[in-house]
Amino acid sequence: MKQLVVDHPLVTHKLTTLRSRDTDSPTFRRLTEELVTLLAYEATREIRVEPHRVQTPVAPCDGVKLSHPRPLVVPILRAGLGMLEGMTRLMPTAEVGFVGMVRNEETLQPTTYAERLPDDLSGRQCYVLDPMLATGGTLAATVQFLVDRGADHITCICLLGAPEGLHRMQDLLDDLQVPCTVVLAGVDERLNEQGYIIPGLGDAGDRLYGVV
Ligand code: URA
Repeated sequence: MKQLVVDHPLVTHKLTTLRSRDTDSPTFRRLTEELVTLLAYEATREIRVEPHRVQTPVAPCDGVKLSHPRPLVVPILRAGLGMLEGMTRLMPTAEVGFVGMVRNEETLQPTTYAERLPDDLSGRQCYVLDPMLATGGTLAATVQFLVDRGADHITCICLLGAPEGLHRMQDLLDDLQVPCTVVLAGVDERLNEQGYIIPGLGDAGDRLYGVV
């Protein structure tokens, strides 16, 4: 597994504002989208393209276009939904699949409550969106889902990660032998007893959508 922490002053600036408890929900949503677009730029470096010739107003020109099958973007509900717009702004032709997972706040284990993905993902590049890589349980379960359906190139985009979650992802991906990159805006110190990232930014879903 490759891990890429995007080191850019604009990313750090937006992340710092996102972390602040004084940042309200509308600002949090906007900043999440902006951050994801910046992370997506790095995360799509290996996106597959094919030659494509166009005619400019003055001459023919050789360029590229995105290859088929189209890339698949998979936000993990609920908080990953807040990252979708920032990703599709950069890749409007991508297809979108959904995985709904909730973690039990006592056992910290994920359970799947919704899933809408193509049955066959062979040859598809998949981009998984999950803002907080905490224990890694939810993200690992989603990656396992995608690999079971044939995905062979997976990129995860997260706002923040904890060392514990990154180690868990590393262990899973060593076993699966599928190329996977995790792209993040930052890696924090640790998890607390409740499974929150410290210092983190709190509950990303609640900050995006309120407590329901
Ligand atoms: N999920 C969150 O939203 N925040 C954390 O700190 C950990 C998991």
